[in-house]
Amino acid sequence: MRPEVETAYGARLTPSPSRGKGRGGGEAVVSVRLDAWLTSASLRLAATLDLPREEARLEARVLAAHALGVNRAWLVTHGHDLLTPAQAEAVEACIGRRLTGEPVAYILGRREFYGLEFSVTPDVLIPRPETETLVEAALERLPAMAPCQVLDLGTGSGVIALTLAVHRPQARVVAVDRSGPALEVARRNARTLGLERVHFVQADWYPDGSVKNFDMIVSNPPYVADADPHLARGDLRFEPRGALAAGPDGLDAIRAIVAGAPAHLRPGGWLLLEHGYDQAPACHALMRDAGLRSLFMLEDLGGRPRVTGGCLPAAAEGGDP
Ligand SMILES: C[S@@+](CC[C@H](N)C(=O)[O-])C[C@H]1O[C@@H](n2cnc3c(N)ncnc32)[C@H](O)[C@@H]1O
Repeated sequence: MRPEVETAYGARLTPSPSRGKGRGGGEAVVSVRLDAWLTSASLRLAATLDLPREEARLEARVLAAHALGVNRAWLVTHGHDLLTPAQAEAVEACIGRRLTGEPVAYILGRREFYGLEFSVTPDVLIPRPETETLVEAALERLPAMAPCQVLDLGTGSGVIALTLAVHRPQARVVAVDRSGPALEVARRNARTLGLERVHFVQADWYPDGSVKNFDMIVSNPPYVADADPHLARGDLRFEPRGALAAGPDGLDAIRAIVAGAPAHLRPGGWLLLEHGYDQAPACHALMRDAGLRSLFMLEDLGGRPRVTGGCLPAAAEGGDP
């Protein structure tokens, strides 16, 4: 039994025969109790990333559970355990990455979306809760139990296409992205979810020769202005620029998607777009000018305008927006 000395936070100094410079020389290293480490990690996260205390505590627990390969309930019942040197190294490596600002989702390699778990890597945008508003609007307009065709433009990790495919088993879903590495992530997610029927295509928005009678085109395109200072802050620093920025006013991708929609929708088919909180009027005008009708706008859970949609009228219709 090695002697131990309690220190602040319950950390204990323990002679470590295996890790000293002089092998077997008994150089002291600090062994830390798990609950003490969690306290120290959340304080460091709060101070360095300017996080509220509760959020920092949650992040510390999520990262510790990931590094130790346990669930969060285990952390509660093992708070008094001393971390082994290997465990201490693993939790410190995780927290070190987070302290540089790296998003939690990239450290964990996964993110939950609409009740499903998706792999994410730095090749894809981290799925956002706002996008669930778009998915709900799409599900409301897709038949629950009939075949239909859906096109997801800018699929990234595949969250929209794959979530729609889970909830609409008869839908034929085509998912497009310009980025090959992003499509690899999306295909991996499709395999994990048993959704090999979703068809992935690498293209610059509308693929050549794609069917022209989609019941729905759905997209969460890049919509941040190129010079927006937010691109240099927080999580956005770590995400692919091609997934975020879209020209001087952030509307380049939306313009391209709206312009191509009438030629790819069946009469009565829907175009649904996620956009920036201040881009709803521009989206509405673009869709109206493209001939779409029954235009609507939805707010996200934070009450910000987030989704605009419209329907291609049947040839005889037309009518008022
Ligand atoms: C905002 S991300 C959305 C990712 C995913 N749909 C989501 O909601 O989390 C936009 C995606 O559009 C893709 N993209 C950007 N420009 C594109 C283009 N010209 N053609 C096809 N995809 C494009 C990016 O690679 C990125 O994956």
